[in-house]
Amino acid sequence: MIGGLDDVVAAETVLSDVDGIAGRLIIRGVSLDDLVHSRYEDVLSLLLDGFFPDLSGLPEGLGAARVAVFKHLASVDADLLALTPIEAVRALLARLPDGDDLTTALHLIAAPAVFTPGIIRLRSGLAPIAPNPGVTHACDILAMMLGKAPEAQQVAALDRYLVTVADHGLNASTFAARVVASTQAGLASAILAGLSALKGPLHGGAPGPVLDMLDAVGTPANAARWVEDELARGERLMGFGHRVYRVRDPRADALKGAVELLATSSAIDPVRLALAEAVERAALAALKRKKPDRRLETNVEFYTALLLESLGFPRATFTCVFAMGRTGGWIAHAREQVLGGRLIRPQSRYVGPKPQQAA
Ligand code: CMC
Repeated sequence: MIGGLDDVVAAETVLSDVDGIAGRLIIRGVSLDDLVHSRYEDVLSLLLDGFFPDLSGLPEGLGAARVAVFKHLASVDADLLALTPIEAVRALLARLPDGDDLTTALHLIAAPAVFTPGIIRLRSGLAPIAPNPGVTHACDILAMMLGKAPEAQQVAALDRYLVTVADHGLNASTFAARVVASTQAGLASAILAGLSALKGPLHGGAPGPVLDMLDAVGTPANAARWVEDELARGERLMGFGHRVYRVRDPRADALKGAVELLATSSAIDPVRLALAEAVERAALAALKRKKPDRRLETNVEFYTALLLESLGFPRATFTCVFAMGRTGGWIAHAREQVLGGRLIRPQSRYVGPKPQQAA
């Protein structure tokens, strides 16, 4: 089928390598397994290296960017709060100017990280909390949402999430960002394109529905019957299957590790974890029976759901948290496209009606 461009190579990149057969993700020469203990700032430096003149003050620059974009939360009104959180973040992000320099890039990376906690609080009738440029990006995101200093394990778990989702080959949102960047429209335009593509349930919109699924299943004993009924109705199981991976998504294990980090600090509900594990087992068994020729394994979104719920993010904001991490990857790809690529302009084959011949 032409529609999905499955095996088309549409870009060369030094940024990430997704090996769908081995189940391995490499970011600029470093395996995800080795990156998961890094701070998000360190992975940003790795991704952006060579795409901007000087990255030496990146952590401080990112802190200053959080402070600079905070003022846009003052413009949030009732109409904006009536939008879904990802639509509200997109609307606020659209206020940022285009440009191709590092300051523009850091403002765009800071935007979802500052706007999401602000919107969460405003939706609960609380005032947004101003960023603190003196702490790490992950720590500040949690502090702005929770209204208090987070525990070290919570910060480590969010860092692991942001690092794990920072980049992932030519996924739909990264492709969208590269297409827009290739027209030289500027970084803000490219990031808005990426965010809009990320929002869909087939890409970054799945983890909220994963929690809906856990709620609907209710208890481990119900899992097998529930997934069978769902598949019999022709529904897709959220958090399973991937265009590239034919084995378990390596990001699923990285994030399960983050969930386990939280388990040691009792931030995770063991009953919820046991339910998720039962649903995962039942789903994998049912998918194997139903689709023996197409390997459908756990993807990144399954444990994302459990992790972000345990960190206190409302499920309606999970795609915004995905965007907090992925914006770094979009910026790197957009710069790579502008610096080394050409206008992306593929062809379509016309299959519509021919003009009528004059009699
Ligand atoms: N549950 C049930 N059946 C599925 C699923 C699923 N999760 N995923 C694929 N299938 C079936 C699908 O119905 C199709 O069957 P048939 O050939 O009989 O029509 C077959 O497997 C192939 O599906 P496809 O749609 O051609 O595969 P794709 O490569 O286009 O889809 C996907 C990839 C992620 C969109 C899909 O697996 C899916 O919808 N998963 C659920 C949503 C989800 O978890 N999304 C997050 C993706 S990971 C985040 C990211 O990296 O972007």
